[in-house]
Amino acid sequence: MTESAWERPWCGSLSLANLGGTVELVGWVRRRRDLGGLVFVDLYDRTGLVQLVFEDAMVNEGEKLGQQDVLRVRGEVRERAAGQANPDLATGEVEVRVDELELLTKAETPPFVVEDVTNASEELRLAYRYLDLRRPQMAANLLLRHRVVAEARRYFDERGFVEIETPILTRSTPEGARDFLVPSRLHRGTFYALPQSPQLFKQLLQVAGIGRYLQVARCFRDEDMRADRQPEFTQIDVEASFVTEEDIFTLVEGLFGRLFPLVGITPPARFDRLSYEEAMERFGSDRPDTRFGLELVELGPLCEGCGYRVLASAAAEGRVKGIVLAGGAALSRKQLDELSEPVKPYGAAGVLWFKRTAEGVASPAKKALGDDGVVRFLEAAGAADGDLLLVVGGPESVVLAALGALRLHLAESQRLIPAGRHDFLWVTGFPLLEWDADDGRFYAKHHPFTAPQAGDEGLLEGDPARVRARAYDVVMDGVELGGGSIRIHEPELQRRMFAALGIGAEEARARFGFLLEAFRYGVPPHGGIALGLDRLVMLMAGRSSIRDVIAFPKTTSGSCLMTEAPSAVDDDQLRELGVGLLERGKPAGSA
Ligand code: AMO
Repeated sequence: MTESAWERPWCGSLSLANLGGTVELVGWVRRRRDLGGLVFVDLYDRTGLVQLVFEDAMVNEGEKLGQQDVLRVRGEVRERAAGQANPDLATGEVEVRVDELELLTKAETPPFVVEDVTNASEELRLAYRYLDLRRPQMAANLLLRHRVVAEARRYFDERGFVEIETPILTRSTPEGARDFLVPSRLHRGTFYALPQSPQLFKQLLQVAGIGRYLQVARCFRDEDMRADRQPEFTQIDVEASFVTEEDIFTLVEGLFGRLFPLVGITPPARFDRLSYEEAMERFGSDRPDTRFGLELVELGPLCEGCGYRVLASAAAEGRVKGIVLAGGAALSRKQLDELSEPVKPYGAAGVLWFKRTAEGVASPAKKALGDDGVVRFLEAAGAADGDLLLVVGGPESVVLAALGALRLHLAESQRLIPAGRHDFLWVTGFPLLEWDADDGRFYAKHHPFTAPQAGDEGLLEGDPARVRARAYDVVMDGVELGGGSIRIHEPELQRRMFAALGIGAEEARARFGFLLEAFRYGVPPHGGIALGLDRLVMLMAGRSSIRDVIAFPKTTSGSCLMTEAPSAVDDDQLRELGVGLLERGKPAGSA
């Protein structure tokens, strides 16, 4: 009875257009309902489900079917009885009356309910990921991911970009995170590193004259994981010669204009641009969520000599800023106390509040400041009666980060983010270098190949912290979707950059010699960007974890609960590699 597999319709594709025709379907049983003399079975595949009906002589066969059994059936497509149509289902107006049934494989009862609303913990879903991916929501996420990649490839192809694969076994080059290392058997005692990104290779491809490079590239970083970070993830990685920042901006704006309509979102033709400094001052974040207000207000000048020692000394030694929550004076004492929680991880001691209501002014600082003092703060911040002013003081980095986090916390808890709104923006002018107090040296904020802004190069030697980079991030709804820069292409400038990073000529040669050498043979000015594909699809799918859009993701502790990777290996394997273990950990998955 088999038709060509490629001609056979998907379960989710049937509609009134198929009425009266005989179809062959294959799929899994989602549910069975016995109505005595009549059996209904929902048959599904990754596209959706369709109702099968077993009547008359077929009833006995239908009754034997269990959840997740794999079937091939043949039957006639007919309209559902009056009143039985299901408007929530694409195939809801039809059903298939089964004439022939072949039970291809019998399934055991799955360990959790394989439906969108499931009883399973994420651990269980990850351990049985193949069942989890049978859930319609998860299958839809993978299909969306595929369509995003396919559309992106088309978009770049139309613009003359060439997709080129760069090595996965490569040389350890520092880019901020720790490398994953792979021991070499042929060159004992040496290691390959898995790429944190194809950065150096895509630059070398510009020296090679490729001009416009694209790769849907797998990257590996051994760093602490969060909901939007995985140890291996995918970038839509781009590099081009003879381009400026604006060229990259319009390229990405055009790409998003093609991708987001896949999920009914229309991004603006041109995204807002915000400098790093402005983003930090107004939103306390270099990837600000601008879908709601709660902008940071400056209170420093008011604090000096204000009479409240805590604020006066904070302003003298650092910064004092605040946030106004409209109508927030109604918050209970307990709710106010709880507002200190989101700022603590950033090193802030707590949050100081001010308000004025019909009962008068109130603040823990009232005793020291007096009623007038409290009112001065409220007025300076633009807080009206009934509003709440929340203030944090301390070192600048602490104040900005703490208020940035408080802002997000308030938006979430007070439900201030308008449904359906999406903001896209470019953050530009990042500092080129970042001081690390623990190590007592500067690190590249982006990577050591990012060019300084014209006019700032002179500060590289004298005041490195003030050098701004030709770097940019694309941000959507408070999520950093991608980052890139215009690169250094002058060897002398690259040398000065290395010097600012404390990397001498010798070390630079040892680590990046191949790149520096390549630059001696005619390097075009170039720049690029990498977009985080997982984050992009996560936002498009309206999810809050990238694990939901990766087929086989790792847990936050970096293990795969299905294959139990990472795992111990045989001593023989280690011996062959010349690797000895200093300690043996527990294999992943063990308690
Ligand atoms: P960057 O390190 O900013 O730049 O990475 C670019 C984008 O990749 C995504 N991303 C991640 N996604 C999931 N899990 C992770 N652990 C993870 N780390 C990064 C983010 C980020 O914006 N070579 C440069 C790009 C360039 O300069 O062209 C680079 O990799 O969305």
